[in-house]
Amino acid sequence: MSAAGGDLLGLIGEPVDRVRRLLDLAQRYEPIANDPSANTGELAGRMVGLLFFEDSTRTRMSFEAAAVRLGASVMIAGGSGTSISKGETIEDTARTVESLGMSALVIRGTPVGIAHMVARVVGCPVINAGDGAHEHPTQALLDAYAVAEAHGRLGHAGGGWWDLSGLTVAIVGDVAHSRVARSNLACLTMLGAKVVCVGPPGLAPAGLCGLGEPGLVEVSRDLDDVLERADAVMMLRMQFERHGGAGEGSVLGSRRQYRELFALTRERAGRMKDGAIVMHPGPMNRGLEIDGAVADGERSVILRQVALGVAVRMGALVECLGEGGDARNGRAGA
Ligand code: CP
Repeated sequence: MSAAGGDLLGLIGEPVDRVRRLLDLAQRYEPIANDPSANTGELAGRMVGLLFFEDSTRTRMSFEAAAVRLGASVMIAGGSGTSISKGETIEDTARTVESLGMSALVIRGTPVGIAHMVARVVGCPVINAGDGAHEHPTQALLDAYAVAEAHGRLGHAGGGWWDLSGLTVAIVGDVAHSRVARSNLACLTMLGAKVVCVGPPGLAPAGLCGLGEPGLVEVSRDLDDVLERADAVMMLRMQFERHGGAGEGSVLGSRRQYRELFALTRERAGRMKDGAIVMHPGPMNRGLEIDGAVADGERSVILRQVALGVAVRMGALVECLGEGGDARNGRAGA
């Protein structure tokens, strides 16, 4: 096992060596990650707590699968099923769950910084499984893995390679409200890829150029232009729940107009570069940002992204928990 990495709260500001180490670990686990009979035993006797205060299919189930493949047991709480509905704070809930014997907590919730908040009050490592519009680090790691895999840039065993330089990734749609995009801007550009954010000004503001590594982020209003040079096109869901109650029309214009300019239609996908891949973190709104035929088409790696989520989360659990699977985060509450 690797040395303990402690918490994984985000990728913005993380050292690139840690990102490569996490990807190396994911590559180690990839061959067995989706084998239901696999059990490495590395986290045998450990318990991982999944605290999901916001809905999830992919992230929650793949963290559960990852923990089980490593030999850990899992306890899941969240939604309306916790005592938060009776007035308990998130911090008290997290400390309560930790005291049941958790070796790590995986947190998803709508408040920005919820995972950071929990990490301040518990002693075990905390992994951010998506906090509001802020960060979704394991999603970005699996996205980087999918790009590297499709373009022959996987790491060499133990070599910390993962060099995406020379590749262009388009992130299209509601970039402004996307935690996936924020983590990806950090992750993809630190590995050397260029990222072009595409959308109308309200969804892809010019200020996005200030994120990621200097000189590697661009903003464009012209999807057709970007499609001709993108090696990967990552479509994003319209995150209506994060638009602060603004009506759909004020954000998108009309759905017809939005689709005309920014949807990955079957016709547009036909003009992508040879070898370019279609990505989506899910959940998708078929018929809005992406046509069903494209989501299910030959360029699509969308289900591969989901499958890679287990390997990436196995790597994240091992890296955060370290040798023996019982790292502490070294902060208050420990
Ligand atoms: N990509 C992602 O976070 O999906 P879920 O909301 O289903 O976990």
